[in-house]
Amino acid sequence: MGFQWDDKYATGNDEIDNQHKQIFAYLDELEDHIEHGASQQWVENFMSALGLYTRSHFCYEEICMRQAKCPIAAKNKDQHAKLLAAFHKAEQKLEREGISDELLQQLKDFLTSWLVNHIMKIDVHLKACTK
Ligand SMILES: [Fe+2]
Repeated sequence: MGFQWDDKYATGNDEIDNQHKQIFAYLDELEDHIEHGASQQWVENFMSALGLYTRSHFCYEEICMRQAKCPIAAKNKDQHAKLLAAFHKAEQKLEREGISDELLQQLKDFLTSWLVNHIMKIDVHLKACTK
């Protein structure tokens, strides 16, 4: 299916939008590798790259929201912490159990629903605060 950027994801902050696009590109890459067969090593490397990227993106976004005095800033920060905790658990599971079709599918569903829903439901509120 691919992860297509859409204006409905826009936050009114170009830098944040670009970072979100990069996260979409990561998800697209994961989907592609799941379809064509991914190795354990590839998935582990992927998770650490995505984890690093997401962490620095979250920091940046939290600063922007705080500076814009966005009413949703605290909720955003809280969701980021929860997402990172769940991400860490997924990484541990991957290391413990090794990859399987089922685990890769779970991983993709988890990342997609968390990241895309988060962007759609929380991050888009930044738009109203920066105007
Ligand atoms: Fe966020």
